[in-house]
Amino acid sequence: MLDFCLVGAGFIGPLHGANVAAHPGARLAWVVDLNVAAARSLAHKYGARASGALDEALADPRVRAVIICTPPRTHAAIIEAAARAGKAIFCEKPVDLDMAKVDACAKVLAQTKVPFFVGFNRRFDPTHRALHDAIRAGEIGRPEMLILSSRDPEISPPDVVATTPYGIFYDTMIHDFDMLRFLLDDEPIEIFARTACMIDEKENPHRDPDTAMVQLRMSSGALVHVNSSFRAAYGYDQRIEAFGEKGMVVSTNHHPTSLERHGKDGIRRDPLLYFFIDRYEQSYKRELDAFIGALETATPPAIGLDDGRRALAIAEAGVRSAKTGMPVALSY
Ligand SMILES: NC(=O)c1ccc[n+]([C@@H]2O[C@H](COP(=O)([O-])OP(=O)(O)OC[C@H]3O[C@@H](n4cnc5c(N)ncnc54)[C@H](O)[C@@H]3O)[C@@H](O)[C@H]2O)c1
Repeated sequence: MLDFCLVGAGFIGPLHGANVAAHPGARLAWVVDLNVAAARSLAHKYGARASGALDEALADPRVRAVIICTPPRTHAAIIEAAARAGKAIFCEKPVDLDMAKVDACAKVLAQTKVPFFVGFNRRFDPTHRALHDAIRAGEIGRPEMLILSSRDPEISPPDVVATTPYGIFYDTMIHDFDMLRFLLDDEPIEIFARTACMIDEKENPHRDPDTAMVQLRMSSGALVHVNSSFRAAYGYDQRIEAFGEKGMVVSTNHHPTSLERHGKDGIRRDPLLYFFIDRYEQSYKRELDAFIGALETATPPAIGLDDGRRALAIAEAGVRSAKTGMPVALSY
């Protein structure tokens, strides 16, 4: 049994907390949140201890792993504290928003040698994984084009948007920047991004980009397109199309059921699953399984700090391109 400490009992924290508590190889031992009431309420559900002070939980020698579910700007400090306490770390994406802090984390992780994993959960979605495996098995031959459509049904509240400008890159498309590396087993060498504010001032008062189209060129020569919006009126739109010399593989959207209703007005299907909690439910369980499996077998977790760092570098270069209107060469 691995004892976990969950840090951050906001939106995604309770989901990871529930998955840890339900896992046969793990136990939720601590919940830490600056908002102690939130920590207590989540801890109470699973018989865990609650605290507002990370150090208190890190001092517990039974705690073997930490799951970081706090806002991105807080991640680096928590990673360093957990690493220095000798705990294995599962960190929600992005690793942090500040590359200098990520580099400092890399040094601490290298010194402490604790296992580290970034929660790029989409790699563990069964349909996306099947697409990955088909590419790897050579089903489409050499990949030539990859298209990732990554559209949310709603924009984050204004206070969240205010704390992370260009969140469409750092918070949303960072998943796609990881996926394109994972799917093509290759690195992008150039990025060109255009953004727009399509949502009105009432919902997007900070005029932060809510719509983006991005093109990337991979070192193999393959071309990639990522498009993202915070206004998919029809639900959480998550499609990936990989095109190659021998054909194409497509990871399509998920619906609650695959029932089709045929009538005089045409064919109707269920609406799309509404958002990531439902669409990626299995992936969150599978990524936790992978993390715990790595700890049990003392093998490096599947997604390391360097993966998180590279996705952040792509996001940073994309923002630079959007701001300047020019393509940006990628260096890591
Ligand atoms: N992989 C995914 O699909 C996915 C989905 C949603 C969020 N996320 C990521 O998860 C992280 C958390 O997102 P969220 O939406 O749950 O955020 P949130 O704002 O809803 O919750 C964050 C919680 O952390 C607490 N907190 C803030 N600073 C803290 C600190 N220094 N120490 C302890 N507690 C602290 C806050 O009080 C809050 O309860 C982000 O990195 C986000 O990008 C990932």
